Amino acid sequence: MQSTPRTFRIKSFGCQMNVYDGERISELLTDTGLAAVADGEDADLVVLNTCHIREKAAEKAYSDVGRLKREDGSRPMIALAGCVAQAEGAEAKRRSPMIDIVVGPQAYHRLPKMVAQATRGDRPVDTDMPAISKFDALPARRRAAPSAFLTVQEGCDKFCTYCVVPYTRGAEISRPRADIVAEARALADAGAKEIVLLGQNVNAWEHEGHDLADLIREIARIDGLERIRYTTSHPADMSDPLIAAHGEVEKLMPYLHLPVQSGSNRILKAMNRSHTTETYLRTIEKMRAARPDVAISGDFIVGFPGETEEDFEATLRIVDAVGYAAAYSFKYSARPGTPAAIMEDQVAPDIMDDRLQRLQARIARTQLAFNRSTAGRETQVLIERRGRRPGQMIGRSPWLQSVHLQTGSEPGAMLDVTLTSAGPNSMTGALRQKDAA
Ligand code: 5AD
Ligand code: SF4
Repeated sequence: MQSTPRTFRIKSFGCQMNVYDGERISELLTDTGLAAVADGEDADLVVLNTCHIREKAAEKAYSDVGRLKREDGSRPMIALAGCVAQAEGAEAKRRSPMIDIVVGPQAYHRLPKMVAQATRGDRPVDTDMPAISKFDALPARRRAAPSAFLTVQEGCDKFCTYCVVPYTRGAEISRPRADIVAEARALADAGAKEIVLLGQNVNAWEHEGHDLADLIREIARIDGLERIRYTTSHPADMSDPLIAAHGEVEKLMPYLHLPVQSGSNRILKAMNRSHTTETYLRTIEKMRAARPDVAISGDFIVGFPGETEEDFEATLRIVDAVGYAAAYSFKYSARPGTPAAIMEDQVAPDIMDDRLQRLQARIARTQLAFNRSTAGRETQVLIERRGRRPGQMIGRSPWLQSVHLQTGSEPGAMLDVTLTSAGPNSMTGALRQKDAA
Protein backbone atom coordinates (compact mmCIF):
# COMPACT_ATOMS: atom_id res chain seq x y z
CA MET A 1 0.00 0.00 0.00
CA GLN A 2 1.23 3.47 -0.86
CA SER A 3 -0.37 6.84 -0.24
CA THR A 4 -1.89 8.67 -3.22
CA PRO A 5 0.90 10.50 -5.05
CA ARG A 6 0.63 14.28 -5.25
CA THR A 7 3.79 15.00 -7.20
CA PHE A 8 5.54 13.32 -10.12
CA ARG A 9 8.70 13.37 -12.16
CA ILE A 10 9.28 11.84 -15.62
CA LYS A 11 12.66 10.77 -16.92
CA SER A 12 12.71 10.07 -20.65
CA PHE A 13 15.52 8.22 -22.38
CA GLY A 14 16.24 7.54 -26.04
CA CYS A 15 14.49 8.96 -29.05
CA GLN A 16 12.40 12.06 -29.68
CA MET A 17 9.24 10.00 -29.59
CA ASN A 18 9.96 9.20 -25.97
CA VAL A 19 10.39 12.91 -25.30
CA TYR A 20 6.98 13.49 -26.90
CA ASP A 21 5.42 10.63 -24.92
CA GLY A 22 6.96 12.06 -21.75
CA GLU A 23 5.33 15.42 -22.45
CA ARG A 24 1.94 13.78 -23.01
CA ILE A 25 2.24 11.71 -19.84
CA SER A 26 3.10 14.89 -17.97
CA GLU A 27 0.00 16.68 -19.31
CA LEU A 28 -2.14 13.67 -18.45
CA LEU A 29 -0.89 13.44 -14.87
CA THR A 30 -1.20 17.21 -14.42
CA ASP A 31 -4.82 16.97 -15.60
CA THR A 32 -5.52 14.37 -12.93
CA GLY A 33 -4.29 16.73 -10.22
CA LEU A 34 -0.63 15.80 -9.74
CA ALA A 35 2.10 18.44 -9.76
CA ALA A 36 5.34 18.06 -11.70
CA VAL A 37 8.61 18.56 -9.81
CA ALA A 38 11.90 19.56 -11.40
CA ASP A 39 14.49 17.01 -12.46
CA GLY A 40 16.46 15.81 -9.44
CA GLU A 41 13.81 16.81 -6.91
CA ASP A 42 11.97 14.28 -4.80
CA ALA A 43 8.60 13.17 -6.16
CA ASP A 44 5.86 10.80 -4.94
CA LEU A 45 5.66 9.12 -8.36
CA VAL A 46 8.57 8.59 -10.74
CA VAL A 47 7.96 7.52 -14.34
CA LEU A 48 10.99 6.03 -16.08
CA ASN A 49 10.28 6.33 -19.80
CA THR A 50 12.82 3.86 -21.12
CA CYS A 51 14.54 3.02 -24.42
CA HIS A 52 15.38 -0.47 -25.65
CA ILE A 53 17.22 0.20 -28.89
CA ARG A 54 20.82 -0.57 -27.89
CA GLU A 55 23.21 -1.91 -25.24
CA LYS A 56 22.07 -3.40 -21.98
CA ALA A 57 18.94 -1.24 -21.99
CA ALA A 58 17.05 -3.42 -19.52
CA GLU A 59 19.97 -3.62 -17.06
CA LYS A 60 20.31 0.14 -17.16
CA ALA A 61 16.60 0.58 -16.45
CA TYR A 62 16.76 -1.75 -13.43
CA SER A 63 19.76 0.06 -12.01
CA ASP A 64 17.97 3.39 -12.53
CA VAL A 65 15.05 1.93 -10.58
CA GLY A 66 17.41 0.83 -7.79
CA ARG A 67 18.83 4.32 -7.47
CA LEU A 68 15.39 5.74 -6.65
CA LYS A 69 15.64 4.36 -3.12
CA ARG A 70 15.84 7.29 -0.67
CA GLU A 71 18.38 7.64 2.14
CA ASP A 72 15.77 6.75 4.77
CA GLY A 73 15.01 3.50 2.92
CA SER A 74 11.67 4.69 1.54
CA ARG A 75 11.01 5.10 -2.17
CA PRO A 76 8.59 6.81 -4.55
CA MET A 77 5.90 4.95 -6.45
CA ILE A 78 7.72 3.74 -9.58
CA ALA A 79 6.25 3.30 -13.06
CA LEU A 80 8.41 1.59 -15.67
CA ALA A 81 7.27 2.98 -19.02
CA GLY A 82 8.53 2.99 -22.61
CA CYS A 83 10.11 0.26 -24.69
CA VAL A 84 11.89 -1.67 -21.90
CA ALA A 85 8.51 -1.94 -20.17
CA GLN A 86 7.02 -3.25 -23.41
CA ALA A 87 9.81 -5.80 -23.89
CA GLU A 88 9.98 -6.99 -20.27
CA GLY A 89 6.28 -6.93 -19.36
CA ALA A 90 5.42 -8.77 -16.16
CA GLU A 91 9.02 -10.03 -15.94
CA ALA A 92 9.93 -6.52 -14.75
CA LYS A 93 7.98 -7.01 -11.50
CA ARG A 94 9.85 -10.24 -10.81
CA ARG A 95 13.24 -8.69 -11.49
CA SER A 96 12.64 -5.62 -9.35
CA PRO A 97 10.32 -5.58 -6.35
CA MET A 98 10.52 -1.77 -6.42
CA ILE A 99 8.52 -1.48 -9.64
CA ASP A 100 4.83 -0.74 -8.96
CA ILE A 101 3.57 -0.18 -12.50
CA VAL A 102 4.64 -1.53 -15.91
CA VAL A 103 3.16 0.43 -18.80
CA GLY A 104 4.04 0.10 -22.50
CA PRO A 105 4.17 2.91 -25.07
CA GLN A 106 0.68 2.16 -26.43
CA ALA A 107 -1.02 2.05 -23.02
CA TYR A 108 0.14 5.09 -21.08
CA HIS A 109 -3.21 6.85 -21.36
CA ARG A 110 -4.30 4.32 -18.71
CA LEU A 111 -1.60 5.48 -16.28
CA PRO A 112 -3.91 7.44 -13.93
CA LYS A 113 -6.01 4.32 -13.43
CA MET A 114 -2.89 2.24 -12.84
CA VAL A 115 -1.62 4.74 -10.25
CA ALA A 116 -4.91 4.31 -8.39
CA GLN A 117 -4.48 0.52 -8.54
CA ALA A 118 -0.92 0.78 -7.24
CA THR A 119 -2.16 2.96 -4.39
CA ARG A 120 -4.41 0.05 -3.39
CA GLY A 121 -1.42 -2.29 -3.36
CA ASP A 122 -1.74 -3.83 -6.84
CA ARG A 123 1.14 -3.97 -9.29
CA PRO A 124 -0.61 -3.45 -12.65
CA VAL A 125 1.01 -4.36 -15.97
CA ASP A 126 -0.34 -3.04 -19.29
CA THR A 127 1.60 -3.74 -22.46
CA ASP A 128 -1.41 -4.11 -24.74
CA MET A 129 -1.35 -2.58 -28.17
CA PRO A 130 -5.02 -1.64 -28.30
CA ALA A 131 -6.97 -0.98 -31.46
CA ILE A 132 -8.30 2.23 -29.91
CA SER A 133 -5.69 4.92 -30.16
CA LYS A 134 -4.24 6.18 -26.91
CA PHE A 135 -4.27 9.64 -28.48
CA ASP A 136 -8.06 9.80 -28.22
CA ALA A 137 -7.77 9.37 -24.46
CA LEU A 138 -5.17 12.10 -23.91
CA PRO A 139 -5.88 15.75 -23.08
CA ALA A 140 -6.41 17.79 -26.27
CA ARG A 141 -4.83 20.92 -24.83
CA ARG A 142 -1.07 21.09 -25.41
CA ARG A 143 1.80 22.96 -23.81
CA ALA A 144 4.56 23.95 -26.18
CA ALA A 145 8.16 25.09 -26.41
CA PRO A 146 9.25 27.14 -29.48
CA SER A 147 9.97 23.82 -31.17
CA ALA A 148 7.44 21.09 -30.42
CA PHE A 149 7.26 17.41 -31.28
CA LEU A 150 4.10 15.88 -32.70
CA THR A 151 3.83 12.11 -33.21
CA VAL A 152 1.99 11.33 -36.47
CA GLN A 153 2.97 7.72 -36.99
CA GLU A 154 4.15 4.92 -34.76
CA GLY A 155 5.58 1.48 -35.24
CA CYS A 156 7.43 -0.17 -38.06
CA ASP A 157 6.74 -2.93 -40.60
CA LYS A 158 10.21 -2.92 -42.13
CA PHE A 159 11.86 -5.50 -39.85
CA CYS A 160 15.47 -4.54 -40.29
CA THR A 161 17.23 -7.58 -38.88
CA TYR A 162 19.01 -5.71 -36.05
CA CYS A 163 16.06 -3.68 -34.76
CA VAL A 164 13.64 -4.14 -31.85
CA VAL A 165 11.25 -1.37 -32.89
CA PRO A 166 8.77 -3.59 -34.78
CA TYR A 167 8.45 -5.61 -31.56
CA THR A 168 8.37 -2.79 -28.97
CA ARG A 169 6.32 -0.22 -30.90
CA GLY A 170 4.32 -2.65 -32.99
CA ALA A 171 3.02 -2.39 -36.55
CA GLU A 172 3.02 0.85 -38.55
CA ILE A 173 0.02 2.97 -37.60
CA SER A 174 -0.76 6.44 -38.89
CA ARG A 175 -2.77 8.90 -36.83
CA PRO A 176 -5.79 10.43 -38.61
CA ARG A 177 -5.10 13.65 -40.48
CA ALA A 178 -7.74 15.74 -38.71
CA ASP A 179 -6.36 14.77 -35.27
CA ILE A 180 -2.83 15.74 -36.26
CA VAL A 181 -3.92 19.07 -37.73
CA ALA A 182 -5.95 19.84 -34.59
CA GLU A 183 -2.95 19.05 -32.40
CA ALA A 184 -0.68 21.18 -34.60
CA ARG A 185 -3.13 24.08 -34.16
CA ALA A 186 -3.17 23.54 -30.39
CA LEU A 187 0.63 23.62 -30.35
CA ALA A 188 0.71 26.80 -32.44
CA ASP A 189 -1.87 28.41 -30.12
CA ALA A 190 0.36 27.46 -27.19
CA GLY A 191 3.28 29.30 -28.78
CA ALA A 192 5.10 26.72 -30.91
CA LYS A 193 6.87 28.25 -33.91
CA GLU A 194 8.22 24.98 -35.19
CA ILE A 195 6.66 21.54 -35.33
CA VAL A 196 8.68 18.37 -35.73
CA LEU A 197 6.48 15.56 -37.06
CA LEU A 198 7.60 12.29 -35.51
CA GLY A 199 7.34 8.69 -36.55
CA GLN A 200 9.57 5.63 -36.61
CA ASN A 201 8.81 5.70 -40.33
CA VAL A 202 7.38 9.16 -40.60
CA ASN A 203 7.47 9.27 -44.39
CA ALA A 204 5.29 6.14 -44.52
CA TRP A 205 2.47 8.20 -42.95
CA GLU A 206 -0.75 7.90 -44.91
CA HIS A 207 -4.40 8.42 -44.15
CA GLU A 208 -7.39 8.12 -46.47
CA GLY A 209 -5.29 8.52 -49.57
CA HIS A 210 -3.20 11.40 -48.23
CA ASP A 211 0.56 11.13 -47.78
CA LEU A 212 3.09 13.02 -45.69
CA ALA A 213 3.58 15.65 -48.39
CA ASP A 214 -0.17 16.46 -48.25
CA LEU A 215 -0.06 16.60 -44.46
CA ILE A 216 2.91 18.99 -44.49
CA ARG A 217 1.14 21.27 -46.96
CA GLU A 218 -1.92 21.37 -44.75
CA ILE A 219 0.04 22.08 -41.56
CA ALA A 220 1.97 24.80 -43.39
CA ARG A 221 -1.31 26.74 -43.64
CA ILE A 222 -1.53 27.17 -39.85
CA ASP A 223 -0.93 30.80 -38.86
CA GLY A 224 1.83 31.35 -36.34
CA LEU A 225 3.70 28.22 -37.32
CA GLU A 226 6.86 29.10 -39.17
CA ARG A 227 8.81 25.89 -39.50
CA ILE A 228 8.05 22.24 -40.18
CA ARG A 229 10.43 19.30 -39.86
CA TYR A 230 9.91 15.55 -39.85
CA THR A 231 11.88 12.56 -38.65
CA THR A 232 12.80 9.66 -39.06
CA SER A 233 12.42 8.70 -42.72
CA HIS A 234 13.10 5.39 -44.40
CA PRO A 235 14.88 5.62 -47.78
CA ALA A 236 12.33 3.25 -49.37
CA ASP A 237 9.44 5.61 -48.51
CA MET A 238 11.09 8.81 -49.76
CA SER A 239 8.47 9.59 -52.42
CA ASP A 240 8.73 12.09 -55.26
CA PRO A 241 5.85 14.25 -53.92
CA LEU A 242 7.62 14.53 -50.55
CA ILE A 243 10.86 15.49 -52.26
CA ALA A 244 8.97 18.03 -54.38
CA ALA A 245 7.43 19.56 -51.24
CA HIS A 246 10.94 20.53 -50.14
CA GLY A 247 11.20 22.78 -53.16
CA GLU A 248 7.72 24.23 -52.82
CA VAL A 249 6.66 24.57 -49.20
CA GLU A 250 8.49 27.51 -47.72
CA LYS A 251 7.92 26.45 -44.12
CA LEU A 252 9.40 23.01 -44.71
CA MET A 253 12.99 23.24 -43.53
CA PRO A 254 15.94 22.26 -45.75
CA TYR A 255 16.92 19.26 -43.65
CA LEU A 256 16.48 15.54 -44.12
CA HIS A 257 17.38 12.81 -41.66
CA LEU A 258 17.72 9.73 -43.84
CA PRO A 259 19.50 6.80 -42.16
CA VAL A 260 21.59 4.67 -44.50
CA GLN A 261 23.13 2.38 -41.80
CA SER A 262 25.91 1.04 -44.06
CA GLY A 263 27.66 1.81 -47.33
CA SER A 264 27.95 -1.86 -48.30
CA ASN A 265 25.16 -3.41 -50.36
CA ARG A 266 26.02 -6.85 -48.98
CA ILE A 267 25.48 -5.61 -45.41
CA LEU A 268 22.37 -3.62 -46.36
CA LYS A 269 20.91 -6.85 -47.73
CA ALA A 270 21.76 -8.75 -44.54
CA MET A 271 20.15 -5.88 -42.62
CA ASN A 272 16.99 -6.24 -44.76
CA ARG A 273 17.13 -2.52 -45.49
CA SER A 274 15.33 -2.69 -48.86
CA HIS A 275 17.56 0.00 -50.34
CA THR A 276 21.02 -0.05 -51.89
CA THR A 277 23.73 2.58 -51.78
CA GLU A 278 22.80 3.44 -55.37
CA THR A 279 19.08 4.00 -54.69
CA TYR A 280 19.98 5.94 -51.55
CA LEU A 281 22.40 8.24 -53.40
CA ARG A 282 19.84 8.74 -56.15
CA THR A 283 17.32 9.93 -53.55
CA ILE A 284 19.85 12.38 -52.13
CA GLU A 285 20.50 13.66 -55.64
CA LYS A 286 16.76 14.25 -56.20
CA MET A 287 16.51 16.06 -52.85
CA ARG A 288 19.36 18.35 -53.82
CA ALA A 289 17.75 19.03 -57.17
CA ALA A 290 14.53 20.04 -55.39
CA ARG A 291 16.26 22.00 -52.63
CA PRO A 292 19.94 22.67 -53.37
CA ASP A 293 20.89 23.84 -49.86
CA VAL A 294 19.36 20.80 -48.06
CA ALA A 295 21.34 19.45 -45.10
CA ILE A 296 21.45 15.65 -44.97
CA SER A 297 21.86 13.70 -41.76
CA GLY A 298 21.95 9.98 -41.20
CA ASP A 299 22.38 7.01 -38.89
CA PHE A 300 25.08 4.35 -39.12
CA ILE A 301 25.70 1.00 -37.51
CA VAL A 302 29.26 -0.34 -37.44
CA GLY A 303 30.09 -3.97 -36.74
CA PHE A 304 26.90 -5.57 -38.03
CA PRO A 305 27.49 -9.37 -38.13
CA GLY A 306 29.73 -10.28 -41.04
CA GLU A 307 30.93 -6.70 -41.69
CA THR A 308 34.44 -6.87 -43.15
CA GLU A 309 37.04 -4.10 -43.38
CA GLU A 310 36.05 -3.77 -47.03
CA ASP A 311 32.36 -3.30 -46.13
CA PHE A 312 33.35 -0.74 -43.54
CA GLU A 313 35.46 1.21 -46.02
CA ALA A 314 32.41 1.41 -48.27
CA THR A 315 30.62 3.05 -45.33
CA LEU A 316 33.40 5.63 -45.03
CA ARG A 317 33.05 6.32 -48.74
CA ILE A 318 29.33 6.99 -48.55
CA VAL A 319 29.94 9.54 -45.77
CA ASP A 320 32.06 11.52 -48.21
CA ALA A 321 29.76 10.90 -51.16
CA VAL A 322 26.78 12.37 -49.27
CA GLY A 323 28.71 15.00 -47.32
CA TYR A 324 26.61 14.63 -44.18
CA ALA A 325 25.82 17.81 -42.25
CA ALA A 326 25.33 15.61 -39.17
CA ALA A 327 25.10 11.89 -38.42
CA TYR A 328 24.67 9.48 -35.56
CA SER A 329 26.74 6.34 -35.46
CA PHE A 330 26.40 3.31 -33.23
CA LYS A 331 28.16 0.06 -32.52
CA TYR A 332 25.96 -2.84 -33.47
CA SER A 333 24.23 -4.22 -30.41
CA ALA A 334 22.65 -7.67 -30.56
CA ARG A 335 19.01 -7.37 -29.49
CA PRO A 336 17.47 -10.56 -28.16
CA GLY A 337 14.73 -11.85 -30.45
CA THR A 338 16.00 -10.13 -33.61
CA PRO A 339 17.33 -12.20 -36.56
CA ALA A 340 20.78 -10.56 -36.53
CA ALA A 341 21.39 -11.59 -32.92
CA ILE A 342 21.83 -15.21 -34.00
CA MET A 343 23.78 -14.53 -37.20
CA GLU A 344 27.26 -15.93 -37.54
CA ASP A 345 30.40 -13.80 -37.65
CA GLN A 346 29.53 -11.39 -34.87
CA VAL A 347 32.21 -8.68 -34.96
CA ALA A 348 34.67 -8.42 -32.03
CA PRO A 349 34.19 -5.43 -29.69
CA ASP A 350 37.67 -3.96 -30.27
CA ILE A 351 37.12 -3.96 -34.03
CA MET A 352 33.79 -2.19 -33.50
CA ASP A 353 35.47 0.42 -31.28
CA ASP A 354 38.10 1.09 -33.91
CA ARG A 355 35.55 1.38 -36.74
CA LEU A 356 33.29 3.65 -34.72
CA GLN A 357 36.19 6.02 -34.05
CA ARG A 358 37.21 6.14 -37.67
CA LEU A 359 33.62 6.66 -38.81
CA GLN A 360 33.05 9.46 -36.31
CA ALA A 361 36.24 11.20 -37.40
CA ARG A 362 35.04 11.04 -40.99
CA ILE A 363 31.60 12.39 -40.09
CA ALA A 364 33.20 15.21 -38.07
CA ARG A 365 35.05 16.22 -41.24
CA THR A 366 31.96 16.42 -43.44
CA GLN A 367 30.02 18.16 -40.67
CA LEU A 368 32.67 20.86 -40.30
CA ALA A 369 32.80 21.25 -44.08
CA PHE A 370 29.02 21.69 -44.14
CA ASN A 371 29.14 24.24 -41.32
CA ARG A 372 31.87 26.18 -43.11
CA SER A 373 29.83 26.18 -46.32
CA THR A 374 27.06 28.02 -44.47
CA ALA A 375 29.30 30.71 -42.94
CA GLY A 376 28.41 34.14 -44.29
CA ARG A 377 24.81 33.19 -45.07
CA GLU A 378 22.00 35.54 -44.09
CA THR A 379 19.23 33.50 -42.61
CA GLN A 380 16.73 33.16 -39.76
CA VAL A 381 17.35 31.67 -36.35
CA LEU A 382 14.64 30.42 -34.01
CA ILE A 383 15.75 31.18 -30.44
CA GLU A 384 15.31 28.16 -28.16
CA ARG A 385 17.21 28.74 -24.93
CA ARG A 386 19.72 30.76 -22.96
CA GLY A 387 23.45 30.17 -23.50
CA ARG A 388 26.09 30.01 -20.80
CA ARG A 389 27.44 33.52 -21.25
CA PRO A 390 25.51 36.64 -20.19
CA GLY A 391 23.25 37.85 -23.01
CA GLN A 392 24.00 34.77 -25.07
CA MET A 393 21.10 32.84 -26.60
CA ILE A 394 21.07 29.61 -28.55
CA GLY A 395 18.81 28.94 -31.48
CA ARG A 396 18.58 26.83 -34.61
CA SER A 397 19.27 27.66 -38.23
CA PRO A 398 17.04 26.18 -40.96
CA TRP A 399 19.75 23.47 -41.32
CA LEU A 400 19.29 22.52 -37.65
CA GLN A 401 22.68 23.89 -36.63
CA SER A 402 22.95 25.30 -33.12
CA VAL A 403 23.60 29.03 -33.46
CA HIS A 404 25.07 31.07 -30.61
CA LEU A 405 24.42 34.79 -30.60
CA GLN A 406 24.11 37.86 -28.41
CA THR A 407 20.56 39.16 -28.20
CA GLY A 408 17.99 40.41 -25.74
CA SER A 409 15.28 38.34 -27.42
CA GLU A 410 13.55 35.50 -25.60
CA PRO A 411 13.01 31.87 -26.64
CA GLY A 412 10.46 31.74 -29.46
CA ALA A 413 11.84 34.79 -31.27
CA MET A 414 12.61 34.34 -34.98
CA LEU A 415 15.54 36.61 -35.79
CA ASP A 416 17.30 37.75 -38.96
CA VAL A 417 20.88 36.60 -38.47
CA THR A 418 24.14 36.41 -40.38
CA LEU A 419 26.09 33.22 -39.67
CA THR A 420 29.48 34.70 -38.93
CA SER A 421 31.65 31.68 -38.16
CA ALA A 422 31.59 27.89 -38.15
CA GLY A 423 32.67 25.44 -35.47
CA PRO A 424 32.64 21.65 -35.50
CA ASN A 425 29.30 21.44 -33.64
CA SER A 426 27.77 24.90 -33.84
CA MET A 427 27.73 28.27 -35.56
CA THR A 428 28.18 31.79 -34.28
CA GLY A 429 25.71 34.36 -35.53
CA ALA A 430 25.16 38.10 -35.43
CA LEU A 431 21.88 39.99 -35.63
CA ARG A 432 21.31 41.74 -38.91
CA GLN A 433 20.78 45.52 -38.81
CA LYS A 434 16.99 45.45 -38.54
CA ASP A 435 17.04 43.54 -35.23
CA ALA A 436 20.30 45.00 -33.93
CA ALA A 437 18.78 48.50 -33.86
N1 5AD B 1 22.42 -1.81 -32.70
C1 5AD B 1 22.97 -0.62 -32.98
N2 5AD B 1 22.29 0.43 -33.47
C2 5AD B 1 20.97 0.26 -33.69
N3 5AD B 1 20.03 1.09 -34.16
C3 5AD B 1 18.86 0.43 -34.17
N4 5AD B 1 19.01 -0.82 -33.71
C4 5AD B 1 20.32 -0.96 -33.41
C5 5AD B 1 21.10 -2.03 -32.90
N5 5AD B 1 20.57 -3.21 -32.63
C6 5AD B 1 20.32 2.44 -34.62
C7 5AD B 1 20.02 2.63 -36.10
C8 5AD B 1 18.77 3.44 -36.09
C9 5AD B 1 18.96 4.27 -34.83
C10 5AD B 1 17.72 4.87 -34.28
O1 5AD B 1 19.51 3.36 -33.91
O2 5AD B 1 21.08 3.35 -36.69
O3 5AD B 1 18.62 4.24 -37.25
FE1 SF4 C 1 14.07 -0.35 -36.93
FE2 SF4 C 1 14.46 -0.59 -39.58
FE3 SF4 C 1 12.01 -0.01 -38.62
FE4 SF4 C 1 13.97 1.83 -38.47
S1 SF4 C 1 13.08 0.99 -40.35
S2 SF4 C 1 12.52 1.29 -36.84
S3 SF4 C 1 15.76 0.58 -38.12
S4 SF4 C 1 13.14 -1.91 -38.28
